[in-house]
Amino acid sequence: MEMVNITIDGQQVAVPKTSTVLEAALSLGIKVPTLCYHPELRVEGACRVCMVEVQGARSLVASCVYPVNEGMVVHTNTAAVREARKSVVELLLANHPTECLSCQRNLNCELQNIAADVGVREIRFDGEKKNYPLDDKNPSLVRDQNKCILCGRCIRACSERQGVHVYSFANRGFNTTVVPAFSLGLDQVACTFCGQCAAVCPTGAIVEKDDTEAVWAALSDPKKHVIVQTAPAVRVA
Ligand code: FES
Repeated sequence: MEMVNITIDGQQVAVPKTSTVLEAALSLGIKVPTLCYHPELRVEGACRVCMVEVQGARSLVASCVYPVNEGMVVHTNTAAVREARKSVVELLLANHPTECLSCQRNLNCELQNIAADVGVREIRFDGEKKNYPLDDKNPSLVRDQNKCILCGRCIRACSERQGVHVYSFANRGFNTTVVPAFSLGLDQVACTFCGQCAAVCPTGAIVEKDDTEAVWAALSDPKKHVIVQTAPAVRVA
């Protein structure tokens, strides 16, 4: 395997040429905050929380998608990096509901943890909030799009891990959202109740219901025959 030598925060390391800067940093035990990145899913580069400074680059780069190069020098903890990460998280929080205490993911929320890590102590920006209805008809999952930060992990988990392709992005700009196929409810598509989307969601946008009986009832209901196909997949009654 071809290796390249790079320096991160003063530490030299040899990593495979196909590595990203984030992977190289992690191999040295250097912590870089991430939100859209998940080690078992393909990278997306959507959230920009993982920004680092690469000497010679014209701007900060997203380390999860930035490839290593021979001789590269990286700084993961400069004042500019810390300020940029904090601003990204503050902007995410500006559109996020502030009901953490009543959220199922309270104290187990990656967004909450990263906000604390990057030093957010107040909500400086009062952004527009989304007002989507709760999608709670699925026997196994509850989706609250208002808490979604558009990291895309649920889309990738559903398609890459499960091959079900229930979710996709829809709309543009502030109205961008993650929806089941054809914007149907999560009870009307070919969800297999596996819970992978909830497992990788970094916020409370998708959480599991504790209702095993309802899941079994749905799985054994012949009227709710599930057609499993590549995207988009729709359940027919
Ligand atoms: Fe790198 Fe989201 S973790 S862009």
